[in-house]
Amino acid sequence: RHHVISLADFQPEEYDTVLQTAASFQEVLSRRTKRVPALQGQVIANLFFESSTRTRSSFELAAKRLSADTLNFAPGTSSLTKGETILDTAKTYLAMGTDIMVIRHREAGVPLAIANEMDRLQTRVGVFNAGDGQHEHPSQALLDLFTLCTLIDAEKPRLSLLKGKKIAIVGDILHSRVARSNIWSLTASGAEVHLAAPPTLLPKWFADFVTEPIQSTQPSTSNSQLPRKLFLHWSLEPALKDADVVMTLRLQRERMTQHLLPSLREYHQRYGITKERLQLCKPDVKVMHPGPTNRGVEISSDLMDDPQFSLISQQVTSGVAVRMALLYLMSTGKM
Ligand code: CP
Repeated sequence: RHHVISLADFQPEEYDTVLQTAASFQEVLSRRTKRVPALQGQVIANLFFESSTRTRSSFELAAKRLSADTLNFAPGTSSLTKGETILDTAKTYLAMGTDIMVIRHREAGVPLAIANEMDRLQTRVGVFNAGDGQHEHPSQALLDLFTLCTLIDAEKPRLSLLKGKKIAIVGDILHSRVARSNIWSLTASGAEVHLAAPPTLLPKWFADFVTEPIQSTQPSTSNSQLPRKLFLHWSLEPALKDADVVMTLRLQRERMTQHLLPSLREYHQRYGITKERLQLCKPDVKVMHPGPTNRGVEISSDLMDDPQFSLISQQVTSGVAVRMALLYLMSTGKM
């Protein structure tokens, strides 16, 4: 695999390769030196045209732990401000000898456009999508998968460990690239994925997955033609009932037109995840959030900080080992 743009066509053995390689790098990160010479001499460019804390720093640290050289691009101080195009920016990094470009952009399709240009120019550059608009965020879904699988088997994480688990993804599905990538990976594992969101925050195309009209208070049906188990709900309770994992999503107010924006108080009352609401779930339920969070909106502040339930810090920690695995596998052509 030369580029990673989407998880839509990821195969079970590819997930397992990423999980097992990440577990090896997690062991490296537990050593005092924390560094391996695997990518010595390689250049990794982080081209983040949209803001990021976790993903950019995590890819940078992952590259450094692999002994690669890193280039960090800040759009506000770059020649984009002088009118240089995105493709010319990518070609500039190509000319400096970049081997892998990690790209984030607020518009869906930009990483793919750069990947196509790199292929057209017959380069060997690999492009990694670090989040494009409302499309996908593959490395986030892979680190979420790793976090869940290593809870069950830290030494041999594998996709099949999640088979039969009930995973609720709650909140602003419409704008969430994280939800899209997670739907691909989690349904590929054989988990039952239940989406719960207000009707205005569910994408229209999700109607393709249901065979009957969605009822606002009843659990909806999954499409029996699909091998993947995906369920849609407009209310929270059926999604939370007996859930093993609850994945909350940020209300992406910056991407909302006014008519989609529920009041924050109303949203928290109807869809906010609290300890009280978790009583509907399995007793050992775990809560995830890709970050950044709106404390007290999609998740209560006390729940976010409670290590009995919250995997949020663990997700960030997992991100370094998973991104080391992704950069290594991409660079060595093993993925
Ligand atoms: N989860 C995530 O993508 O966070 P950042 O926007 O901080 O990278």
